[in-house]
Amino acid sequence: MTEPAPRDPSGLAARKAALDLLSAALSRRAGLDEGLSTPALAGLPARDRAFARALAMATLRHLGPIDAALAARLRSPPPERVMQALRLGAAQLFVLKTPPHAAVAATVALAPTALRALVNAVLRGLAREPPDLFDPDRLAPDWLYARWRAAYGEAEARAIAALIAEEPPTDLSLRPGATSDDLQGETLPGGTFRAAMGGDLTGWPGFAEGRWWVQDASAAVAARLLDPAPGGAALDLCAAPGGKTLQLAATGARVTAVDRSAARLRRVTENLARIGLSAELVAADAAAWPDERRFEAVLLDAPCSATGTFRRHPDVLWAARPPEIGKLAQVQARLLDAAARRVEPGGRLVYCVCSLEPEEGEGQTEAFLARAPGFRLEPVAPGEGGAPQASLRADGALRILPHHRPGGTDGFYIARFRRAP
Ligand SMILES: C[S@@+](CC[C@H](N)C(=O)[O-])C[C@H]1O[C@@H](n2cnc3c(N)ncnc32)[C@H](O)[C@@H]1O
Repeated sequence: MTEPAPRDPSGLAARKAALDLLSAALSRRAGLDEGLSTPALAGLPARDRAFARALAMATLRHLGPIDAALAARLRSPPPERVMQALRLGAAQLFVLKTPPHAAVAATVALAPTALRALVNAVLRGLAREPPDLFDPDRLAPDWLYARWRAAYGEAEARAIAALIAEEPPTDLSLRPGATSDDLQGETLPGGTFRAAMGGDLTGWPGFAEGRWWVQDASAAVAARLLDPAPGGAALDLCAAPGGKTLQLAATGARVTAVDRSAARLRRVTENLARIGLSAELVAADAAAWPDERRFEAVLLDAPCSATGTFRRHPDVLWAARPPEIGKLAQVQARLLDAAARRVEPGGRLVYCVCSLEPEEGEGQTEAFLARAPGFRLEPVAPGEGGAPQASLRADGALRILPHHRPGGTDGFYIARFRRAP
């Protein structure tokens, strides 16, 4: 992996920024992109910010094996910031391939004077006996890996975990009628364009004209399965930042998009404006929205643990906590009931989550069908919406696992229901 070198010769400011980003992500104060826009980091030169992000990201992608290697060389856990510095040092040595003397010197400079000898010794030891930073059995936190093995089996869990170390490609959804002729990459089943380009994507052909928006291939499947009639009324619940709102609006449906975060809805407004589409936007709690309308097509992209998005957000793996999955499952059930109340007789409801956890997916469908006798699962046809063949479950819902697409894809659960007429 080649990354832009930081501008100050010692690279200290960029490495301190990486340390702050890593600390914030692991203590759940802020994701990497949120962290980069804090006042402390917003003032850094763009090159240093890019390096800080790349270094923190490389560390998070290999955190499991890095921590195992460090634990074997530390008698007791060092103070938090020293631990973060060691993690960054290991990522520089083995992922960014920084020459050992530079990686060690830069990491030692981040540590307090009293612990510099320790940091120096640990990193030099690692450099002499490089750990395997790609071992799939160590890439995910143990508790999460155990859950995936229980849900999907050993081989599948290992294939999922192997992707934690991989940099994901960028997938684009194209505005209707837009061409991809001047973009490099390939069109995937369903129409997603998988870009094979690097650098700042706001400089890629077509960005400024609003010809495409960034949307993972799996995330694009849900709105395709809703397939609202042109001119029909579609409701998008939990809509921000609006990837699925854009897709639904692009079909010609009259879209109402609801999200409880006014700040996140502003991103939907910006995205609609850039692509040249429109929708009615509502800032409200989807479970308590005082509106009597019913819709022929309703999409619920519920808040979830987001463990399926680890390729772009590896911090979700380390920020997730087991009890939260149960709490989120309760929120999802409440939102699913609220979404069902909005579906007109004979209408469709699509439920999806970017989670790999069965309680947030299969468990929701099972419990919902038991509570809502007026709904039945409407099975997805093989390949419909561009869904990978391997993701189609016996009941007709989709369980998309990250390795179901060559090159990887976000993990998603998607179920489509039909309300009795
Ligand atoms: C997974 S994201 C949605 C992604 C979006 N559908 C897209 O395709 O770009 C979940 C969203 O749910 C919103 N949310 C969480 N709880 C909510 C609630 N009770 N009512 C409405 N929106 C909610 C969050 O603000 C967040 O924007």
